[in-house]
Amino acid sequence: MRKKVFLTRTLHDFALKELKKKYQIEVHKGKIPVPQSKLRSKIKDVDGLICFPYDIINKETIDLAENLKVISTYSVGFDHIDTKYAKGKKIRVGYTPEVLTDATADLAFSLLLDSLRRVSEGDRIIRDGKWKMIYGAHDYVGVDLQGKTIGILGLGRIGQTLAKRAKAFDMDIIYHNRNRLSKTKERTLDAKYVSFERLISQSDVISIHVPHTKETDKMFNMKIFKKMKNTAFLINTSRGKVVNEKDLVTALKKKIIAGAGLDVFEQEPISKNHPLTKLQNVVLAPHIGSSTKETRAKMAEITVRNLNLGMNGKKPIYSVGY
Ligand code: DGY
Repeated sequence: MRKKVFLTRTLHDFALKELKKKYQIEVHKGKIPVPQSKLRSKIKDVDGLICFPYDIINKETIDLAENLKVISTYSVGFDHIDTKYAKGKKIRVGYTPEVLTDATADLAFSLLLDSLRRVSEGDRIIRDGKWKMIYGAHDYVGVDLQGKTIGILGLGRIGQTLAKRAKAFDMDIIYHNRNRLSKTKERTLDAKYVSFERLISQSDVISIHVPHTKETDKMFNMKIFKKMKNTAFLINTSRGKVVNEKDLVTALKKKIIAGAGLDVFEQEPISKNHPLTKLQNVVLAPHIGSSTKETRAKMAEITVRNLNLGMNGKKPIYSVGY
């Protein structure tokens, strides 16, 4: 009898082919993320699970699994999985860091550039037939990046890669992290460690690179927005729930902060009628941080390798805890 693997979304053809050689696979088609009822009925008797962000794999779901050896997520984030509980049950959890670092940092920097230089807003103006004045002295003016301070919350792999991009654009870099980096690393990146409060009040752009946890849940709320400069921009490519979206909409509407560039949202996909879609001073992306041809292929490869290792009782190449 071949071991069974359930995939909550489809993957690249080469990855599916590879999986089919070894396992009996089933790919969920239809509503995304996979409805809990379906996930729970499938997890019961599979040996391996390939999942994606927003597929909630909590204690109750894990408890239903009778043969599950490994959960392999096609993402660097694993906030959708109760990894501690899985570990207790000796279920391996694999994820895909490193290969998506550059792509995600690039996207964060794209949102930064777009927000400060109003590229998407200009695109909308043209498409809506509202471009009237040629080269108006005060039209569609943005702000320079050079000499501005970027505050990076979470100077891990992606944060550090973003810092390199910011440096190349002559920005000053400050950061806050749970653990301060070594002096050598700080010097290499030309990044200055500051308290969270100073990061909030001194940055011209804040870029969020922390995972969504109990501690970071809605940590960017009205109290924080009021402490930011009213000329500051917020960039979020981590998880939507780190930001209180309702407060952000108010802060953007009332110009408590200048703008935002967002790749992630509390609920995804956000609807066409979401209040954020009505605002001009926000750039929206459909969770495409890691979405390049090359990166997504590498992620698929790692996802399969992680799964294979876990299926054989071995630790995935990138493993959470166990
Ligand atoms: C992930 O992999 O968790 C990120 O959200 C990619 O954009």
